[in-house]
Amino acid sequence: IPCFIFPDMNEGSYYAAKIIAQTIREKQQKGENCVLGLATGSTPKVLYNELVRMHKEEGLSFKNVITFNLDEYYPMEREAMQSYYNYMHRILFHHIDIQAKNIHIPNGELPKEQIKQHCIEYEKQIEEAGGIDLQILGIGNNGHIGFNEPGSSIHSKTRLTNLENSTRLANVYEFANISEVPRLAITMGLSTILKARKVILLAWGPAKAPVVQRAVEDHMSEQVPASLLQQHNDCIFILDSSAAAELT
Ligand code: F6R
Repeated sequence: IPCFIFPDMNEGSYYAAKIIAQTIREKQQKGENCVLGLATGSTPKVLYNELVRMHKEEGLSFKNVITFNLDEYYPMEREAMQSYYNYMHRILFHHIDIQAKNIHIPNGELPKEQIKQHCIEYEKQIEEAGGIDLQILGIGNNGHIGFNEPGSSIHSKTRLTNLENSTRLANVYEFANISEVPRLAITMGLSTILKARKVILLAWGPAKAPVVQRAVEDHMSEQVPASLLQQHNDCIFILDSSAAAELT
């Protein structure tokens, strides 16, 4: 997997933002929609800030952009502070000219018996949009991408899944205490992610260095879901120097 290493997360985020802006503009010139797969969490915050800046200062338009978020906690109310619905609107969507009908985020509010159908429809909506042109990913300390925890099948699609306790602990900072962190999430599957035409994984900071090393340099394994990106023909990692520190 080609790794682009920057001195800090700001520089890496600006580089990712440039690739996204270029993809959006190329599609605009052809009169086509640009389908983006988006991640949440702490990793892409500077990237989203930069996209907002490009919209405000450089006239980057999101009118032709369709988005699909990777995941959402379950159960989760949309308007809850911790929801990824709230995160995306607060950090990105409220500040750009994306059309509301073009935003897709798994729905954490549905009753359990409707989730299966919702996941099937999510996959169908991605297909009907023409597939994902560019997928942005973060990486969990355990190697997860989206909420595909270790052991997820390479053939997995959008589904309800269990969160590892280590993942719940990593995200407890958004909640009052660990018991408040949902045990379930709806996530795109590994096959959904691998079908994206281009994939960019971002990782910052020393805590991610061991898992970045395993994803890039170890054998592909469902035990390290991000390592499955080795089989993608257009995937890059954008790292800061501390996340890249254990690469040989
Ligand atoms: C978030 C997601 C997760 C995060 C990962 C890293 O939508 O899919 O895979 O990207 O847990 O989280 P942060 O960026 O908070 O370190």
